[in-house]
Amino acid sequence: MAKKFYITTAIDYANGSPHLGHAYEKVLTDVLARYRRLQGDEVHFVTGLDEHGQKVQMSARKAGLEPQAICDQVAVEFQGLCQRLEISNDDYIRTTEARHKKVVQSVLQDLYDRGEIYKAEYAGFYSQRQEQFVTEKEKVDGEWPEIYGEVEEVIETNYFFKLAQHQDWLVDTIENNEAFIYPRFRSADVLQFLKEPLNDLCISRPRERLQWGIELPFDSEYVTYVWFDALVNYITAAGYGTDAYADHWPADFHVIGKDILVPPHAVYWPIMLHALGLELPRHFLVHGWWLSSGAKMSKSTGAVVNPLDLIEQHGADAFRYFVTREMNVGQDSEFSLERFTARYNSDLANDLGNLLSRLLNMGGRYTEGRVPAATIDEAPEQELKQLWESTAKELIPLYDGFQYHRALETIFSFLSGINRYAETRAPWKLAKSEDPADRAALETSLACMAEALRLSVVLLTPVMPTISEKVRALIGDEALTGLDGQLDWGDRLEGKTLGEKTILFPRPERSAG
Ligand code: MSP
Repeated sequence: MAKKFYITTAIDYANGSPHLGHAYEKVLTDVLARYRRLQGDEVHFVTGLDEHGQKVQMSARKAGLEPQAICDQVAVEFQGLCQRLEISNDDYIRTTEARHKKVVQSVLQDLYDRGEIYKAEYAGFYSQRQEQFVTEKEKVDGEWPEIYGEVEEVIETNYFFKLAQHQDWLVDTIENNEAFIYPRFRSADVLQFLKEPLNDLCISRPRERLQWGIELPFDSEYVTYVWFDALVNYITAAGYGTDAYADHWPADFHVIGKDILVPPHAVYWPIMLHALGLELPRHFLVHGWWLSSGAKMSKSTGAVVNPLDLIEQHGADAFRYFVTREMNVGQDSEFSLERFTARYNSDLANDLGNLLSRLLNMGGRYTEGRVPAATIDEAPEQELKQLWESTAKELIPLYDGFQYHRALETIFSFLSGINRYAETRAPWKLAKSEDPADRAALETSLACMAEALRLSVVLLTPVMPTISEKVRALIGDEALTGLDGQLDWGDRLEGKTLGEKTILFPRPERSAG
């Protein structure tokens, strides 16, 4: 079997409800997955939940529940969000599943047998909030930065993974593989981090401090450090240890936020794989943050937007459109409801929604509900076709370069072009004339509007799958299964039946609050 295009998101912490940041990452990955399917790839798309560790253990204690019970509740919420967002994932991995525990333990045993793991006493500082050991180096002006929360002094015997001995290999690998991390400027962050000597990574937690984790296969007094456990999900979901593995691994893309690139994804993970003799993922796609009043939107700041409220009010596709249109992948973006409403009204309801309802309305009134033939080709038609040609040329490179916000901008400026064309031809005026030349212009203008609309929604499909299908059905087109020939201007809609006038994006009474 040919290797599938394997794409993953980060797996979310199971210690709280999903927010805009989590929803965004899934939409971004889904846009890439859907685009690759249209390009003909067989895609394997995995997302999931990171269920072990101290944070979950603490949330469970607070709620007076077993950790597994909290995880089960949160899993329902996150999986529900995926469904509501129409995420097309092929698998959903939870780190408490038996298939994952088995892989983590087999990987640990393998590394232990290869001499990559050793036991040692450690005296130092431990950050509860980050669930990691920290050193004096991390202090700023003599204080532990806020992100570490409470830091305690500990003396503990633990197991360590020999990171340091792979440092030179990692630097070489990153320096010699420019496409490894997108956007490229993030590689510089990683190389900067690697200028300092690496410490070996403590990969165990004594049971007396943490019970909620995967037991070390070679010492039942310890559980596995949550990041070591979580990263392994990517090979568990690829079917590590089974025949499926060869069809999936290496991952083509790990999509993650910028906060978890260094050190877990760009340092621990490649070294873990290298030490196991496994291939590295091909690329990381690293997105920025959604901010709220300039700060990262997160559970701990309390300034969170519940994506479900927005989806409830405006539909999944409008939400997907907004986050993809507003975020330049790699940069941060400020969220505001005003901006959401403005985009909804001007781009979706006006430029796209009104164009469609105008077309269906006129088709019903003037051409018996069918797409007529385009029989003339004058300046307005030629201009519109040229505009499409230049639009089409840009779209694939923009999609291939993850410039989805610009791809959408380009498509919507083409939609404005169709609206301008309609104003120029003014078929509603032509309809009042008895002149056969005006009749030909009327029919041509409806045919061109329909064809242009069909072309516009082809590459809206990865972002707005449901709306795009709906538009296609309403203009008499078939469901989209691939890109072959789909971006070429033609007459495939001629004679097709138009649907009833439809409001694609109803204006809500009041905006979400
Ligand atoms: N559990 C770890 C990831 C383990 S992957 C092997 C984790 N979980 S998280 O729930 O905190 O974050 C999950 C993903 O959501 C991360 O990629 C993170 O960057 C992303 N986001 C969380 N808040 C975000 C924003 N405010 N904006 C955009 N994405 C951010 O980290």
